[in-house]
Amino acid sequence: MNAPETLSRWNQATSSRVPFWAYTDAQLYQRELEKIFYGPHWSYVGLAVEIPNTGDFRLTWVGERQVVMVRDRVAPKDRGTDHGIRVVENRCAHRGVRFCQQPQGNARSFVCPYHQWTYKLNGELAGLPFKEGVKATEADGTPCVQGGMPPDFDLKAHGLTRLRVEVLHGLVFATFSEEAEPLADYLGPNILPWLDRIFKGRELSLLGYNRQRIPGNWKLMMENIKDPYHPGLLHTWFVTFGLWRADQKSRMVMDDHGRHAVMVSRRNEGGENRAVTEGVTSFKANMVLNDARLLDVVPEPWWKVPDPANPGTEINPTVTMMTLFPSVIVQQQVNSLSTRHIVPRGEGEFDFVWTHFGFADDTPEMTQRRLRQANLFGPAGFVSADDGEVIEFSQDGFRQWGEEGSTLCELGGTGTGGTEHMVTETLIRSMYAYWRKVMGV
Ligand code: FES
Ligand code: FE2
Repeated sequence: MNAPETLSRWNQATSSRVPFWAYTDAQLYQRELEKIFYGPHWSYVGLAVEIPNTGDFRLTWVGERQVVMVRDRVAPKDRGTDHGIRVVENRCAHRGVRFCQQPQGNARSFVCPYHQWTYKLNGELAGLPFKEGVKATEADGTPCVQGGMPPDFDLKAHGLTRLRVEVLHGLVFATFSEEAEPLADYLGPNILPWLDRIFKGRELSLLGYNRQRIPGNWKLMMENIKDPYHPGLLHTWFVTFGLWRADQKSRMVMDDHGRHAVMVSRRNEGGENRAVTEGVTSFKANMVLNDARLLDVVPEPWWKVPDPANPGTEINPTVTMMTLFPSVIVQQQVNSLSTRHIVPRGEGEFDFVWTHFGFADDTPEMTQRRLRQANLFGPAGFVSADDGEVIEFSQDGFRQWGEEGSTLCELGGTGTGGTEHMVTETLIRSMYAYWRKVMGV
């Protein structure tokens, strides 16, 4: 284990070489939980459509802390201003028990199994057994009260930990921090248009979940989706069927802090570009699909939007991959849509929860298409299975060498600006420039 003073040394001026200890040091990871996941950052916890009715709840996570996302009752007078979604920590205020064991369901209130303390849907303590003690009689027959809570015990002061919650177009975010800026500011004006493009004013439909545990540091997943260099090289599926190649028209967007990003790209209209497939061993010229419906891509009207960076023009991407630091990836890959929640579990492992969705007004054919294309993603996806593996191999490589090694992210230089192409690792560098500031290394 490194001493903290060793950890505080990041030997380069730039953020282009990430020391292996950033992925393998257990103490540093604890600091990440405090400063990032429990600090002034917003974490994705789920979609509003997962809890449509009053009392619906779902267990989810902020960092390693399990929380309950729940739909509270809303008084008629508050209906215009209160979305009704609450996020409370799954930890009883009495003796710390993780009281909710059901992954999802509907409840009128939450009752801790240990001593039956009962909480309202908004996390307030509603009542507890024997608060006033037990009525008994003294030996001489006088009535008395035995035990109970002290007379000044205040129900209001002993509710569940309630997180701040903001809902953006049906995406639910929560934070333990009072200092976190409002969510829209946190995401920033460069990122918001790309969220608007998919979600604004649209009702979602929930298509299903995948979940997997990946034996690698959580940041590797963020890096993977900030890395436009790998898809046309690692993924046979992408390079062979032309879904992602280095010559596509692309843009790398980031927020002012460099922590969030969007990879925006447009699939080529077809044709083989030998310059980007020659020598790429994952390109399989003779590979064909048994079922062509997997690639039955149908353009959707909402793909085309005014270009946020070039007023007066339009942009029509087929892919947008967003990393919203630190907890979620939002994916549009042709007709397949998902959120991917990153749940860290120690420095060398994370859970990855995929929520596939569509829109409430989709035709049954479009829903089928989205579901078929979802086969490219998820733990065993034709594409994403590769990412899970290389993340594991990365962590293995870091461990076997020891902490003085470092990665090299210098494709496109050592700077951290946005680009109008994808032959760059700039988004990874910008995330680490921010990470270094937050972590003080
Ligand atoms: Fe929850 Fe006692 S620990 S009621
Ligand atoms: Fe990938």
